[in-house]
Amino acid sequence: MDFQAILEEITATLQAELRAHGPRGEVAQYIPALARVPAGHIGMALRTCDGQEAVAGDGALPFSIQSISKVFTLTLAMQHLSEEQLWSRIGREPSGTAFNSLVQLEFEHGTPRNPFINAGAIAVADRLVGLYGDAACAQLSAFLSDLSGEPIGYDEEVAASEAATGFRNQALANFMKSFGRVDHAVDTVLDLYFHQCALSMSCLQLARAAAYLSRDGAHPVRPGAHIMTERQTRRINSLMLTCGTYDAAGEFAYRIGLPCKSGVGGGILAVVPDHLTLVVWSPALDETGNSVLGQKALELFTRRTGLSIF
Ligand code: DON
Repeated sequence: MDFQAILEEITATLQAELRAHGPRGEVAQYIPALARVPAGHIGMALRTCDGQEAVAGDGALPFSIQSISKVFTLTLAMQHLSEEQLWSRIGREPSGTAFNSLVQLEFEHGTPRNPFINAGAIAVADRLVGLYGDAACAQLSAFLSDLSGEPIGYDEEVAASEAATGFRNQALANFMKSFGRVDHAVDTVLDLYFHQCALSMSCLQLARAAAYLSRDGAHPVRPGAHIMTERQTRRINSLMLTCGTYDAAGEFAYRIGLPCKSGVGGGILAVVPDHLTLVVWSPALDETGNSVLGQKALELFTRRTGLSIF
């Protein structure tokens, strides 16, 4: 398949739609540094299991990866912790509520439904602070740099903006702490969480970094090295399918049919196991916090290529 031509065709279709109707949806407003990003970007990039790459539109421009980072922090936690150490604090069920919802936490005694809602990612960050202490942010960016083959860093302006306005995340972390479900200081855990959301990467860098998810855990570029086992990789992909796009997970499975992880920066990572990783970016979001044109790009891609896990 000529993936470069396919990505160019899809971005051209969506750019024409943007020119004709303007962006549908809204750029995330609750994080001031994100609200300033122009809504008109559309980028796509993919990497196949055998290392072919394709990039189109703004696919090489860095953006704030936001909740897509939850896949990488979960990977680090799964690499280093036993099942019991990790899953005693976090569930594996879809939440059916918004990514930053507080309601379930009280009924479920401070145990987040899954690692991809904010509460779950904060619980994972708590585990990583336990593993790495003050070096947690440095370890995470080093991990991403190793996966993508080039230096990856934080957008400190976005991290500071999140810290200044992250009242809900403060509430989630304190609430979990009140149930004894967070071990470390809330400020330390949230510093890691806000930084992971502020990782700045392009679609192409993300497609490379996540390539282990389409390669049964094999390192994206280093021959013979493994990031995780085949079984662990399947588990992350299944969590992405059921929980990666929050209360839109059913709609994503129906319309796109691939494990996906979205972020409020407008990026979406999709995995076609044993084939490729695909990343799309367009900043305007729908009411569930998922990129409007990103979803459309993925739908056009799966329709055009016939790729699906079903
Ligand atoms: O914590 C937050 O609310 C944001 N930093 C990240 C949320 C996010 O990306 C949810 N994904 N759609």
